Amino acid sequence: MDDLKSKYLSQIADAADENALETIRVAAVGKKGEVALKMRELGKMTPEERQVAGPALNALKNEINSALVAKKAGLADAALDERLRTEWLDVTLPTRASRTGTLHPVSQASEELTAIFAEMGFSVAEGPRIDTDWYNFDALNIPGHHPARAEMDTFYMHRAEGDDRPPHVLRTHTSPVQIRSMEKMGAPLRIICPGGVYRADYDQTHTPMFHQVEGLALDTDISMANLKWTLEEFVKSFFEVDDVELRFRASHFPFTEPSAEVDIRCSWKDGTLKIGEGDDWMEILGSGMVHPKVIAAGGIDPDVYQGFAFGIGIDRLAMLKYGIPDLRAFFDSDLRWLRHYGFQCLDMPSLHGGLSR
Ligand code: PHE
Repeated sequence: MDDLKSKYLSQIADAADENALETIRVAAVGKKGEVALKMRELGKMTPEERQVAGPALNALKNEINSALVAKKAGLADAALDERLRTEWLDVTLPTRASRTGTLHPVSQASEELTAIFAEMGFSVAEGPRIDTDWYNFDALNIPGHHPARAEMDTFYMHRAEGDDRPPHVLRTHTSPVQIRSMEKMGAPLRIICPGGVYRADYDQTHTPMFHQVEGLALDTDISMANLKWTLEEFVKSFFEVDDVELRFRASHFPFTEPSAEVDIRCSWKDGTLKIGEGDDWMEILGSGMVHPKVIAAGGIDPDVYQGFAFGIGIDRLAMLKYGIPDLRAFFDSDLRWLRHYGFQCLDMPSLHGGLSR
C-alpha cells in the first residue's frame, strides 16, 4: 500500500496537465483502478485482516483523491497565471494618435441625404426590416396574385409546419413605412425613411441586402410638380453640382399613379464611375403620386389628401457620388476598402458645414 501511495502521489505531483491527471485518476482510483482491485481482495481476507486493510485502503483512496483535486486547482491557477502574463496590457498607455475606424459610405450618404431632406421639412421615420406581407405588399396595392410579388425576388421567412398564416418577409423596399407612418401620424405628413431592404439579386449594381430611402409627402394640395422639384433639388444638393442630368421615365408601380423612374447620366470608363458625363444611365429611384388605395390603407381619406412618394437607392447614390464601381464590395467588410472609401467619424454632414469633405 505504501508503494501504491508513493507511486501515485509522485505521478500526480509530476502531471503536466489535466489530461495527464485524468489518466492517473483512472489508473489509481477509477472503477478498475489499482485501489479498486485491492479492495476486491478484502473478500478473501480474514475478518481481522479486513479490519486493518479496509480503512487503510479507504484512507489511501481519499488521499489520492485530495491530491488530484489539489493538483487540478494548481494547474488551473498556473494556466491563469500564464494567460495573465502573456495577455498583459498596459491600460495606462495613451490612446492611439491615428484613428483607424471610418464611417461606411452608406452611413455617410444616409447622413447627407437626411440633412438635405430635414432642411426641406421631412422627419425621419422607421419600420421593421422583417415585416408582414400585408405591409410589404397588400397595403401597397399589391394583392396576392400580383406579378410584382414575383418580380421582387422576395425572401420569405420560414413558418412552422401546419401554420397557415402568410409568412413574414424581409422587406423588399422601404415602402411599408409609408403605411406605418400614415397609421402613426396621420396627415398632413412629410417623412423619409432610410434603411436596409432585401431582394435575391446579385451583380455589380445589385446585392441581396441594400439600402433605400423612402420619402412620403401628404397634404391637400400636392402635385407631381412638387415631386419633380423636390427630387431635382435633392439631387443637386446631394451631388453638390448643378449640372447632373436627370431623366424622368414614365413607369409603373402598383402603389403610385402616375409613376416615374429617375435615371442619372453617368459613365463607366476603365473601372471608374463618373456622374454628369458619358452615355450611360443609372437608375436611382422610383416615384409617383401615392395611389388612393394606399392612402386609404394608411387610414387617411384619399378624397381630402393626396401626395407623392419616392424610393431612392442609397448605395447607388454613394457609388455615383464617390466613384465606387462595384456595389458588392460595399458589404465585404474588407478593411482596406473601408479605409480607402470610409469617412472621418466626427465629420457630420450638414448643409452649412458642407456635406462631404
Ligand atoms: N418601392 C419602390 C421600389 O423599391 C420604389 C418606389 C417608392 C416607387 C415609392 C414609387 C414610390 O422599387
